[in-house]
Amino acid sequence: MKTPIRKGKVYLMGAGPGNPELLTVRAMQILKSAEVVLHDHLVPQEILDLIPAWTQVRNVGKRCGQAGISQDQIHALLIAAAREGKQVVRLKGGDPLLFGRVGEEMETLARAGVEFEVIPGVTSAMGAAAAAKIPLTDRRYASKLIFLSHHTAGNVSPEWDDVVLRDATYAVYMPGKNYSAIATKLMEGGLDAATPCAIVANATQADQQIHRTTLQELALEERLPAPSLLIIGEVARPLPPPQEEKDDFGWETPAKTTEVVLDLGETRKEEEIIG
Ligand SMILES: C[S@@+](CC[C@H](N)C(=O)[O-])C[C@H]1O[C@@H](n2cnc3c(N)ncnc32)[C@H](O)[C@@H]1O
Repeated sequence: MKTPIRKGKVYLMGAGPGNPELLTVRAMQILKSAEVVLHDHLVPQEILDLIPAWTQVRNVGKRCGQAGISQDQIHALLIAAAREGKQVVRLKGGDPLLFGRVGEEMETLARAGVEFEVIPGVTSAMGAAAAAKIPLTDRRYASKLIFLSHHTAGNVSPEWDDVVLRDATYAVYMPGKNYSAIATKLMEGGLDAATPCAIVANATQADQQIHRTTLQELALEERLPAPSLLIIGEVARPLPPPQEEKDDFGWETPAKTTEVVLDLGETRKEEEIIG
């Protein structure tokens, strides 16, 4: 009797913004049984440490200014490993479908007849917004959220003439060295110079940094280390400080809140929880 041929599969997986606790449960399960992992440069060591020692792991990322492995070589590695019947993870920072070359990878895998699946991840804009406590679409200020790249990727240079919209929040990926170019483009498009901005570097990681400023002052801001991301819009205004009231003796006390008694309903029965 012939041994059945093992079918290989590629997982195009998001590693999230860096904190290993933000990996999805599914990503974690697949990583634990992967035979080959090809990862981007942005995936931190804490996440790579979760991969079993017997897995073949290779950094195929492009460091700033250094030519890494070519995109065609990445395609060839993915196809070769899958055709050997292996479970292959293509691990990318954030979410795999945003600002990467996953489109080219999916087309190549589809053409080669290789089975693949996309495993979503927490994109860095969400990690940065959570870190800086920014309510991206607070109904009082924003009804739209725009993800932009300030990097010229391939042949498509970023066109910003049409992006300035009212009631919008902007999440600018790959802001580069020149924050003032971004500020100028948005102000020329009609955005108010006083619009709040947050620069978040290494969001969700131990060395995370958050700076708050305005569009006008953005050019003067010290450049934070990569990877960093800008969130621009009224929603990026700092939260109010705790309100203090003075008691009868002049001491400051926390503001009193109206006491509300909430009916939370009955505790769930054991059978309901077990399902
Ligand atoms: C090539 S893009 C990839 C984006 C990724 N697919 C995602 O969903 O976040 C890389 C850019 O993502 C942003 N980025 C990634 N990780 C980040 C982090 N932990 N903190 C801030 N920005 C981050 C930076 O703007 C960086 O230049």
